[in-house]
Amino acid sequence: DAVERGEYRHYMQKEIFEQPRAVADTLEARIGPNGILPNIFGAGGEELLAKVKGIHIIACGTSYHAGMVAKYWIEEYARLPVSVEVASEYRYREAVVPEGTLFTAISQSGETADTLAAMRESRRRGYIGTLAICNVPESSVVREADVKLMTRAGPEIGVASTKAFTTQLTALALLTLHLAKQQGLDSKRYNDLCSQLQHLPRAIEDALKFEPEIVELAGRFILRHHALFLGRGAHYPVALEGSLKLKEISYIHAEAYPAGELKHGPLALVDEDMPVVAVAPNGPLLDKLKSNLQEVRARGGELIVFADTAAHIDGNATRGSILRIDAGGEFIAPAVFTVPLQLLAYHVAVLRGTDVDQPRNLAKSVTVE
Ligand code: G6P
Repeated sequence: DAVERGEYRHYMQKEIFEQPRAVADTLEARIGPNGILPNIFGAGGEELLAKVKGIHIIACGTSYHAGMVAKYWIEEYARLPVSVEVASEYRYREAVVPEGTLFTAISQSGETADTLAAMRESRRRGYIGTLAICNVPESSVVREADVKLMTRAGPEIGVASTKAFTTQLTALALLTLHLAKQQGLDSKRYNDLCSQLQHLPRAIEDALKFEPEIVELAGRFILRHHALFLGRGAHYPVALEGSLKLKEISYIHAEAYPAGELKHGPLALVDEDMPVVAVAPNGPLLDKLKSNLQEVRARGGELIVFADTAAHIDGNATRGSILRIDAGGEFIAPAVFTVPLQLLAYHVAVLRGTDVDQPRNLAKSVTVE
């Protein structure tokens, strides 16, 4: 298996570095100079999406975090209501399904028991149809869906999902743009979002170049027992995903909060033993986030900030470290900022000597309830 891993120490590291290629493959023949191409959802896809008045997204684990990002995107750009729920909750409650709602399952494997059961249950709940966003064409979720959009991550071996997540975001960005156009987003904005998305493989490639700096940051986590991740807007789910990666493979207890909630509880935990990782994209919420970071700093917390190069943040004001990354635009920033968080979790785990590709107690695909 050393051959398959090539120059990389673990599958997870290899898969992190495969992301520019995997994302480019997921965009291939789906987006062009004039925007999203027709029929990217296969036979009947456009007809079904034309009827959509709202979307319920169901998934587990990392795929659920991808769905949470999509909620921010679809509501902002397509102005359609979206709800996102973990499959194990959805399947056992009496969800209300407004007329014109599309059921969307997101799954890397397409075999997660709860996601599959939720999809089967959805058939009885009055949806206009089901869409699968999945990485395995012959999987149960894909076979049972009405229409599909495949991610083209290729086989993912590491239990902690990396390239599956960024390709899910890519597929969800395509869905967002398809719906945004259909719902009448103005063409200037639409074209700008399309060019951002086409730039995503390159932006991820640039983010990967920060690996040496991130290895250094990782050293600060070796002896820690807890870490807090903060983000706002579409970067809140990115913070959730970053904290999930860290806990899955390094066994450090990590939690993610939307930064505005800091003062409603987690601030009580902040002291010099609690590293706080924050994602700071450029955008309307930057000033709010900065004041959240001040709150951490005032309590002696050590900050590790991943900031957009375009975001005005004073490095000295962080009492900790700031890494400036070119996110390539507000739309694709969640996918770009995911990359340094994956690298951070990976290198912390390597330094702690855990079994990175096969973390204890976890399975790649949970096919029983
Ligand atoms: C397991 C894996 C996760 C994954 C989740 C959902 O917990 O360890 O990495 O996100 O299942 O899997 P799916 O294949 O449905 O995306």
